Amino acid sequence: MEQPFPPGFLWGAATSSYQIEGAVHEDGRGSSIWDDFSRRPGAIIDGSNGDVACDHYHRFNEDVALMAGMGLQAYRFSIAWPRILPDGTGAVEQRGLDFYNRVIDACLANGIVPFATLYHWDLPSALQARGGWGNRDIAGWFADYSAICARAFGDRVKHWITLNEPWCIAFLCHEIGAHAPGQKDGTLARAAAHHCNLAHGAGMQAIRACTTADTQVGIALNFGPVMPLTDSAEDKAAAAIAHSYDQFYGWFSTPILKGFYPQEMVHAAALRNAAMPAIRPGDMALISQRNDFMGVNYYTPTRIRAGADGRPAPGHLQDAEYTLMDWEVEPKGLELVLHELHAASNGKTPLYITENGASFADEVIGGGVVHDEARVNYFRSHLAASHDAMQAGVDLRGYFAWSLMDNFEWAKGYQQFFGMVHVDYATQRRTIKDSGHYFSQVIRANAVI
Ligand code: FCB
Repeated sequence: MEQPFPPGFLWGAATSSYQIEGAVHEDGRGSSIWDDFSRRPGAIIDGSNGDVACDHYHRFNEDVALMAGMGLQAYRFSIAWPRILPDGTGAVEQRGLDFYNRVIDACLANGIVPFATLYHWDLPSALQARGGWGNRDIAGWFADYSAICARAFGDRVKHWITLNEPWCIAFLCHEIGAHAPGQKDGTLARAAAHHCNLAHGAGMQAIRACTTADTQVGIALNFGPVMPLTDSAEDKAAAAIAHSYDQFYGWFSTPILKGFYPQEMVHAAALRNAAMPAIRPGDMALISQRNDFMGVNYYTPTRIRAGADGRPAPGHLQDAEYTLMDWEVEPKGLELVLHELHAASNGKTPLYITENGASFADEVIGGGVVHDEARVNYFRSHLAASHDAMQAGVDLRGYFAWSLMDNFEWAKGYQQFFGMVHVDYATQRRTIKDSGHYFSQVIRANAVI
């Protein structure tokens, strides 16, 4: 049975600058922390980098035409800070602005609504040299950069996302060390988390100051909602504990929507011998300003079981489907997050799914055919979950598939495939996969089919 979406529900695809653009030395672009990190031996699984990637910098017209042909209504892309401000602050590179002007104009000419993300991880190296996300001044640097973009593009871009996945910026990059700049310091990671939140608040203010009232600003947060491994009372109790310590909520959605860091975040920091960041008067008010919307990036839940001492321990299901990333396929996790955020904002903050998708090994047949049934099923089940959440009252406004096309998957290099469009990196030829055709049908029907 078809599950219809409301009229006006927005269907799009997402990408990010470093993952697709290439052209890292062109038109005055400054170096970014991903240019540096990808040169570090062992940092990227296949030793690759984003120097060329999908060559989108030169092929954006073709890519926008592809999107239009697929019937996409919106495009979430990111602006590379080092293209606009090669040194992070100071002199503006006009050729960088020109590039995004061309991308935005191409979208609008094709009836595609541009959603611009200001920061999707490619920090200017010059700012890393000044302490990067560990330096509280980054809130001001980011606000200045946001204002430059808002002034340049705000006449045409009406939807802005400040940061992509601050949990990754803070913890994955500074405590786990798997992403640039690859640091492993719990105190630094927590400072970075607070500075991300401050940058989001200051960035929103800057955008609002430079644009008209029809402009909407939000943030894209990632979530891995806790689910018990089994229905046993022990696993459920462990999952309940893990839920209260959930960093995705505790460090980001809770402070942003409610204006405080839960006590559990303080306790967990102490357990790790990490210091909490210094919070100054006014910080929490800046962080918890009204968001016009909140973006949800969802891929997989966090499975928790009771360890030997009854405390939460990571779990892995035996009979579930896992993607090439080894991420469990569980659409209920998406529903959980949507309900949690709806409740946390008292239903007052509209939601967009700003990323959702899966990496699988595709069957590249040739002659314009790529079979990816697993990805079709992933989209279908997650769209059904989104639909169910809306039926239950969640104010969801749109859905962006991750990703438009295969691309540089960070530390996993070119070994993961999230695209609805296949990219042959040797020729840069694009081929719409079965999942891309499926997504087009969904858009046409405005329903899960
Ligand atoms: C998210 C990132 C995105 C992509 C997907 C698979 O965490 O925002 O760039 O890497 O994961």
